[in-house]
Amino acid sequence: MGRLTIDDGTVYVFDTTLRDGEQTPGVSLTVDEKVEIARQLDKLGVDVIEAGFPVVSGGELEGVKGIVSLKPNARVAVLARTNRKDMDTALSIGVDRVHVFIATSDIHLKYKLKIDREEALMKAVEAVEYLKSHGVEVEFSAEDATRTDPSFLREVFTEVAKADVDVIDIPDTVGVATPERMKELVELTRKAAPGKLISVHCHNDFGLAVANSIASVLAGANQFHGTINGIGERAGNAALEEVVMALRILYGKRFRIRSEFVYETSRLVAKLTGLYPQPNKAIVGENAFSHESGIHVHGVIEMPSTYEPMTPETVGRQRWLVAGKHAGTHGVEAMLKEYGITVTREQLKVILHEVKKLGDMGKKVTDADLLAIARSVTGRIPTEEARVRLKDFIVVTGKNVNPTASITMIIDDKEGKTSSIGVGPVDAAIKAIQQVTSELVDARLSEYRLEAITGGSDALGEVIIKVQDSMGNMASARATGPDIVVASVEALIDGMNKLLLKKAIKANMRMMDDV
Ligand code: KIV
Ligand code: ZN
Repeated sequence: MGRLTIDDGTVYVFDTTLRDGEQTPGVSLTVDEKVEIARQLDKLGVDVIEAGFPVVSGGELEGVKGIVSLKPNARVAVLARTNRKDMDTALSIGVDRVHVFIATSDIHLKYKLKIDREEALMKAVEAVEYLKSHGVEVEFSAEDATRTDPSFLREVFTEVAKADVDVIDIPDTVGVATPERMKELVELTRKAAPGKLISVHCHNDFGLAVANSIASVLAGANQFHGTINGIGERAGNAALEEVVMALRILYGKRFRIRSEFVYETSRLVAKLTGLYPQPNKAIVGENAFSHESGIHVHGVIEMPSTYEPMTPETVGRQRWLVAGKHAGTHGVEAMLKEYGITVTREQLKVILHEVKKLGDMGKKVTDADLLAIARSVTGRIPTEEARVRLKDFIVVTGKNVNPTASITMIIDDKEGKTSSIGVGPVDAAIKAIQQVTSELVDARLSEYRLEAITGGSDALGEVIIKVQDSMGNMASARATGPDIVVASVEALIDGMNKLLLKKAIKANMRMMDDV
């Protein structure tokens, strides 16, 4: 961020994934995980990393210290209430910024803090003065600002500005603001504290956090608080990636964010928090750049902007064409081409008919299904040489044992063995396969579905998976059998081979383009 400035037009991104995001029920990150996310946020280019609320636990304090020792380009901030213990803990860590807050709404003052407005104002001002006297940057939040009496809010902001606060933040703590209200509050703050950086912190209780953050920036806020994937208390915070991409692409605002790392960051946060965005989530959801309908696929193949408001590469992703009952000849042809397969018009029609038949049966058509159909229709596509093959595996599981899988595989004609533990037998087997093949392919599971297709304890289980590498290449596969661990292993290995094949074809095509 360099020197604090409000005149170069750049919108500052205050990331609170590691503080408000971690306050998501059920989420608790280890010190190492916090540091790993902070490193990634720095790579993404956020301006401020809110590393945590250090007074809450020893682990939280260690996490913040770990992040400070990374010496990121971003400023490191921590949260503190206005009491000395919180502030001294924050000051002891050597952070760049202390984000100090006190509630200002009557409901919070009466029922939570049990103090009156006068005392709240005094605490706010004294806290800012105290922190400033220690030479740190100070950001002040008036918690529940959007339900605070505007005349009191104005007074608080005026007084903290006199105490030389650096940034004034307007939290919509329970997500009740509207875009119009946020605009009014940004204007109120500008009048109360001229020359100060203004920030907003919007929660998503009514699904308005992103719209409210955008409206605030358009009204003149210099900074917004957001979290990766929109995680956070209750319905979450403003999704950082959505606010940035909308403001950059739709309104031409400037950020330091390197958007090509958005998806990588989203995946890391999802993996470490266990909170995966819903498939239809903007920017980072699995379907955000997927196309199935024939009309759409035809459009994007001819000209991506027909159905893509930004290229997937803008946010570090790749397009994903899906075969299903809505498919058309162009899409199926393009999907086959991704595997280096060309077919005649007549064959294409038959393949499409078979794909639609599967789709009509309510089946998800995987890459493996499409290739099998193409093979049976043309009778001439050889089974691809599998680079990754299973030789043997054993899984041990039970009540008081860690589920463990030992696996032997043939990888490009060489034998590889490993063992891994997991949360269950499937997880252990998948981790072992990923581990033993990691030098050849970094296939992560981005989707795993298990369905019983017959009844009874000997039911046939069908496993459908989608794998993805770090470059965003994807492939899907399925396997069926009475043993779900075996079916999972087979589906994963098939998916990995498809991914490798797709990558090889792509590399070949690039080489031919270069010649
Ligand atoms: O939602 C909120 O009000 C907060 C404050 C601590 C800024 O997270
Ligand atoms: Zn919050």
